[in-house]
Amino acid sequence: MSRPMCRLFTQRLGASSARLSPTPPRTFFRSPAGRRFASGESGPNPNPGQNPFKVWPFVAITLVGTGSYILMARSRDGSYVTPDITTPQTPRLPAPKQDTPRFSPTNVTVVFVLGGPGAGKGTQCAKLVDEYNFTHLSAGDLLRAEQERPGSEFGELIKDYIRDGKIVPMEVTVQLLENAMAEVVDKSGGKGKFLIDGFPRKMDQAEKFEESVVKAAFVLFFDAPEDVMMERLVKRGETSGRADDNVESIRKRFRVFVETSMPVVERFEKEGRVVRVKATQKPEKVYEDVKRGIQPWIEGKR
Ligand code: C5P
Ligand code: MG
Repeated sequence: MSRPMCRLFTQRLGASSARLSPTPPRTFFRSPAGRRFASGESGPNPNPGQNPFKVWPFVAITLVGTGSYILMARSRDGSYVTPDITTPQTPRLPAPKQDTPRFSPTNVTVVFVLGGPGAGKGTQCAKLVDEYNFTHLSAGDLLRAEQERPGSEFGELIKDYIRDGKIVPMEVTVQLLENAMAEVVDKSGGKGKFLIDGFPRKMDQAEKFEESVVKAAFVLFFDAPEDVMMERLVKRGETSGRADDNVESIRKRFRVFVETSMPVVERFEKEGRVVRVKATQKPEKVYEDVKRGIQPWIEGKR
């Protein structure tokens, strides 16, 4: 038995014994036959209707004993902790559920590259990779690779979403990006510089990524009107082999871009984290504007 429990047990028992003594004064009375009886002895009850035995002390002992035994048993199995009245009790709160980003922005730089389908994101990223040594990750390319991967449990789902120009559930895309980034970061001593192209296309993708992977430095946004983008995509469709480079899919992708992806750009714009570049000119001209736009970020002045 634990020491405090033992004390508790003896204190309670001591209190009960105190109630048993002093022994109540004995009163004597005579039976009709003349024999003397003391109260508490067997014999005729002098006060009919009143129990001659004092049962309450026994009931008290039994209750205290049973209670102490239960407390002792519970303290042994850990379900009862003897209250510590000497130190103030700190309320025990559940640990906060926190999704800590996997990478630190000090080691891992991320630039999101956004723009409508056919805005020229891929073309501009290739130029940036050559000049600034970025790693280019296209969310669309990663999804297409996963769709083709034998045994992928998401293959069919990705295929359906891409054909309809819909946004694939963010868990899939964020995980593919995180895996691809981790591979590069692991090989580069914990560091990396990424252009993440075609991402985040929806607010939940942005939130999930910044919560669980890393906070992005800024968004590079390519702005082009739909007629220019349509012309480029139809041309690309002649050779790309992509299931979504046809007029019907392109129209759906435009609608999704305006309704779902533009709010993401606007949110980053409100935070002062967007470099907006007009993307209607030839690639070389657009690239000049890109360099001018990103310079303050590259130099760490933003
Ligand atoms: O960027 P890209 O045009 O290659 O994307 C092709 C398709 O991949 C999109 O229309 C969409 O269905 C899917 N996608 C997505 N989420 C992203 C990027 C692409 O669901 N962040
Ligand atoms: Mg692309």
